[in-house]
Amino acid sequence: MSQHIETKKVTTSTVRQMKAAGRKIASLTAYDAAFARVLDRAGIDFILVGDSVGMVVQGHGSTIPVTVDDIIYHTRMVGRGVERAMVMADMPFMSYASAEDCLKNAARLMKEGGAEIVKLEWGALQLDMVSRLTECGIPVCAHLGLTPQAIFKYGAYRVQGREPDTAVKMRADAKALEEAGADMLLLECVPAPLAAEITAAAHVPVIGIGAGMAVDGQILVLYDILDIAPGKRTRFSKNYMAQVGSIHGAIEAFVAEVREQRFPTAEYSFS
Ligand code: KIV
Repeated sequence: MSQHIETKKVTTSTVRQMKAAGRKIASLTAYDAAFARVLDRAGIDFILVGDSVGMVVQGHGSTIPVTVDDIIYHTRMVGRGVERAMVMADMPFMSYASAEDCLKNAARLMKEGGAEIVKLEWGALQLDMVSRLTECGIPVCAHLGLTPQAIFKYGAYRVQGREPDTAVKMRADAKALEEAGADMLLLECVPAPLAAEITAAAHVPVIGIGAGMAVDGQILVLYDILDIAPGKRTRFSKNYMAQVGSIHGAIEAFVAEVREQRFPTAEYSFS
């Protein structure tokens, strides 16, 4: 069932070409070399060393306690497991609250962790930080919609962009982030029609998690698809372990369903 044919290293330019060619981008999180190797061989295009590590590996109730050192540690391990996939590292809570910290910590993730692109959550992230990272040659993915680092501000994990004013703002933010130099956008828990509009307007790849089928690619938390994450599974993530019954099979099924646009169906999307 493996869809993996290409062996060339994935970069930001590869994912941009994939968007242009209409080939869907498949991504999962991973936190160690063993899983990274399995994902890489299954054809995953980029692996996110997400701050979800705090919840699914470290056992915290949120992503807030995760540190830059934690992400560096896990990014190093993931880097040892991959040959083809691009490695994206999350900037943890408060690691980019000032422009100085943002640059210093993004540089650490690349120099010490081996990250090839960093992801930051919009809200704490400022446009001039994106420009500065870009000037320094640090690729950036900007995470919009539901940004879990702001959970104590939201009070609960909810779909974002349902009200007309928040939808207008999200469209404008996406455009401004792209203009500031963001190489990729990630939309979490966004109504599918809004995500489709943002994707059509963007020149950079837009990756969705709970953002419907029309985005350029999909990402899920690995431990959710393997049904080993603590707590209740989010509505937008699919239990591929229940569907396929093996770790390798579950990951390959996810890649195949993303490529063939069989995931996410309406059951895993928001209107
Ligand atoms: O940390 C993470 O795993 C993420 C995904 C939910 C996109 O940011």
